[in-house]
Amino acid sequence: MSRFVWSPEYELGIEVIDHQHQRIIEYINQIYDARSRAAAQDSLAAILANLVDYTLSHFAFEEALLEEVDYPELSEHQLTHQHFAKLIGAMKTRFDRGEAIAEELATILQHWLIDHIMSDDQQYAPLVKQRLLGIQPDQQQSWVQQAVSRYFQ
Ligand SMILES: [Fe+2]
Repeated sequence: MSRFVWSPEYELGIEVIDHQHQRIIEYINQIYDARSRAAAQDSLAAILANLVDYTLSHFAFEEALLEEVDYPELSEHQLTHQHFAKLIGAMKTRFDRGEAIAEELATILQHWLIDHIMSDDQQYAPLVKQRLLGIQPDQQQSWVQQAVSRYFQ
């Protein structure tokens, strides 16, 4: 595996979500970069905590967005987020036990995120664009800003 390089094919065309996905990829790359550093356990613990925190905020934001547009597959989408939370929880347990999981974790996260973006997220993109992006730009901007400040610190 190698560093995760963002590609335009991963874009949903929903700027706020695309930006959040790119931030998650930066965290995954930080894990990858820390894999072979001596004494990496401490910095890895901090990166992992940031990744989990940011990703869960992203999920909450995305779910609020899907609720806002009455996305009919919201509960299925939430399930995929819950699976991810379980997966990362299991990896964190192994990490806490002292296992060297950085490279494996970065690989798993890369695959999970790409799969999620290319299937689950692409599925909701047309409806969000039609219902949210179809409204007046200033109304849309205020919904996005309020939701960002609600879900991200
Ligand atoms: Fe999602």
